[in-house]
Amino acid sequence: MADRLLIGQTLSFAGDPFALGPAAARHDDRGGVLLRGGRIAAVGPAEALRAAHPAAAVTDYGARLISAGFVDAHAHYPQTAIIASWGRRLIDWLNTYTFPEEMRLADPAYAATIAARHLDLLLAHGTTTVCTYATTAPASVDAYFAAAGSRGMRVIAGRTAMDRNAPPGLADTAAAALDETRALIARWHGRGRFGVAISPRFAPTSSPAQLEALGALWAEHPGCLMQTHLSEQAEEVAWVARLHPGARDYLDVYEAAGLLGPRAVFGHAIHLTARERARLAEAGASITHCPTSNSFIGSGLFDLAGLAGGAIRVGLGTDTGGGSSFSMLRTMAAAYEIAQLRGATVHPAALWWLATAGAARALHLEDRIGTLAVGMEADLVVIDLASTPAIAQRAAAAADLWEALFPTIMMGDDRAVAAVWVAGTPAPLPGRPA
Ligand code: GUN
Ligand code: ZN
Repeated sequence: MADRLLIGQTLSFAGDPFALGPAAARHDDRGGVLLRGGRIAAVGPAEALRAAHPAAAVTDYGARLISAGFVDAHAHYPQTAIIASWGRRLIDWLNTYTFPEEMRLADPAYAATIAARHLDLLLAHGTTTVCTYATTAPASVDAYFAAAGSRGMRVIAGRTAMDRNAPPGLADTAAAALDETRALIARWHGRGRFGVAISPRFAPTSSPAQLEALGALWAEHPGCLMQTHLSEQAEEVAWVARLHPGARDYLDVYEAAGLLGPRAVFGHAIHLTARERARLAEAGASITHCPTSNSFIGSGLFDLAGLAGGAIRVGLGTDTGGGSSFSMLRTMAAAYEIAQLRGATVHPAALWWLATAGAARALHLEDRIGTLAVGMEADLVVIDLASTPAIAQRAAAAADLWEALFPTIMMGDDRAVAAVWVAGTPAPLPGRPA
């Protein structure tokens, strides 16, 4: 395929703005990204790239902003059809809405429908990579990788394990979780752009035997991510303490089963003790902030300012369908608002980093996706910074990139997504020219 040069404003990161401030960002108001063979072959000033690569086909996005595609570090694709279900907190919400819907994905045809719907919604919102839970049914994992493969997307997915406090029809066993996850790793992990995450749902729905079996499987496959939920809601933390009276805290339940390490990715991590924070940092684990979910289900206020910028890898996720939006713009806005409620003000550079490079780093994919740099996979989003009249009038008065970008972070949605490129190929977006 011929080289293609994309021109516009470019935004990327050379480091973590939580540690380095906004100077970690790289912005060019007339920049270029050269795509070759599905990867980024060059990044720099547009006119210099045009002169150096005269044979490249050019797509000029004008004042639109070219960024690495968004990375959603925590999602539940099987919950797509029950997003925004009313009136419950976590445990009730799982029992009332989530588990009955997840049961339906045992039907491979239904799983294929929901997988395709989820991935198309992600692309429409500018998200090019996701780390998602499936259900206990292996067919739900197969369906997701098949749908991602036909879209060329890099995704991580895992068969959700749950052998207690789960309804018949969804509950599995320790042996089934072990055997079926092992088979899925053999079938999918490292194939194409796919990774399999070992995925015990959370301590209340996995017996100690199941957690230990998955800990042993992770030791067999240390290159896999291990994802689960940690300290999301106060009632859940109290339940875990009742279920595990001998554990020092919630994290200790996972650690005792061999489920704490550098490739562990813990969703939520809101109600952490000082010991848990120290152990997460020591272990080099990742945590995923899921702010729309945390306000929607009423979980609490994540300590973004206190946890980011240090040894713990912090990413950003929608947590749909507990989260109330597929949009990483809306998710950045919610992260900003929750930090404000805790008295911290997060710079737009840090928000954008969390949704791109930071989320990629939390998933250990920072050598492949998340920034505009030579050799990275060409997964890109192009953002219209004037996508609605309300946003346009704010952007028109902006003195710099951050003032121009912040109204889109706070008020933007899929209308702000002008184009998406997946592995160097434009993704078809409903209602947008190819
Ligand atoms: N904890 C265990 N399972 C889930 C889930 O599906 N969503 C959320 N938000 N929290 C969970
Ligand atoms: Zn979740």
